[in-house]
Amino acid sequence: MKEIVVSGIRPTGKLHLGNYFGAFKNFLILQEQFNSYFFIADYHSLTTHPTPEDLKGSVKRVLAEYIALGLDPEKCTIYLQSDVPETAELYLFLNMNAYLGELERVTSFKEKARTQPNNINAGLLTYPVLMAADILLHRGVKVPVGKDQEQHLEMSRTFANRFNRLYNCEYFPEPQAVSLGESLIRVPGLTDSGKMSKSAGEADSIYLNEEASVLNKKIMRAVTDSGPQEAGAPKSSAVQNLFDLMALVSTQETIQFFEDQHIQGAIRYGDLKKQLANDMEVFIAPLRDKINTMLGNEKLLNEIAAFGAEKARKNAQKTMREVREIIGFGNR
Ligand code: TYM
Repeated sequence: MKEIVVSGIRPTGKLHLGNYFGAFKNFLILQEQFNSYFFIADYHSLTTHPTPEDLKGSVKRVLAEYIALGLDPEKCTIYLQSDVPETAELYLFLNMNAYLGELERVTSFKEKARTQPNNINAGLLTYPVLMAADILLHRGVKVPVGKDQEQHLEMSRTFANRFNRLYNCEYFPEPQAVSLGESLIRVPGLTDSGKMSKSAGEADSIYLNEEASVLNKKIMRAVTDSGPQEAGAPKSSAVQNLFDLMALVSTQETIQFFEDQHIQGAIRYGDLKKQLANDMEVFIAPLRDKINTMLGNEKLLNEIAAFGAEKARKNAQKTMREVREIIGFGNR
């Protein structure tokens, strides 16, 4: 039997380069070889905004991006999390065996509690439990995600193992975070505030359908340090970020050229940015065209969502029948 792959992305607007290189690129490869479930994590959106602005529009947008960029509903199951309410039932069961102390220690919780002190809701605390429910619902083993999700995957393994131990069964496998060919990826943003992230503001992210002029402006305004360092000095984090972005889209020769310039203390950041903007546009242009075309295709997107919901629910219902049985609830 093929191993099961599960992953999702929250509908926070549009996909950025971090989503693409951290997760989506692997979705495209994994759908070819495994039994894969890729969803849009719309329940998760409510943990930051109980009343998200234009939830429907954001979900439709991510779905359009999934399809435009190559996910194939015939090769994998593509669905909205909220179309599979079995997720919520498994979340409820897993919550009974998730402890306050371990949830409070999760880095993403501490970070959110700091950034949204007026909305530290229970959903935020149990965010990793909902993620575990998404994965375990399909008994997923491989979970393509970026580096920022590593700790959440560790929690998923904890919950899977705890369930098996408590109910004396070998029902849930241990899910692993995967990235093909290398370690988990972290794509930096343009404002030197850490990983590329929508919450770091408009200037931080490069979106997959960024217009050429906006793309150019964003990169030319990216944060750097005050000037070339002395020969041999280490790169500042802001400059390293630009090199990291270059590594995603530029040729080896180009990167080497700027590496040499840096080592000699002769680098001109304006030139580095110009080159990065140019190479990024070459990468983005075809994606932008595909996304913009797919966005207008409402009917097709609705059909794909309905088709995926049916496939995902069938599998989820089977799991939940078995889980209820294991816990000791009747199935009528
Ligand atoms: P989300 O929506 O924040 O991000 C979606 C995916 O993109 C990756 N990612 C990045 N990777 C590298 N560098 C970055 N700057 C970057 N920004 C985002 C994330 O690691 C993620 O893989 N909790 C998840 C969604 C989710 C999920 C799941 C994932 C819900 N249930 C079950 C896997 C399995 C999230 O918020 O990702």
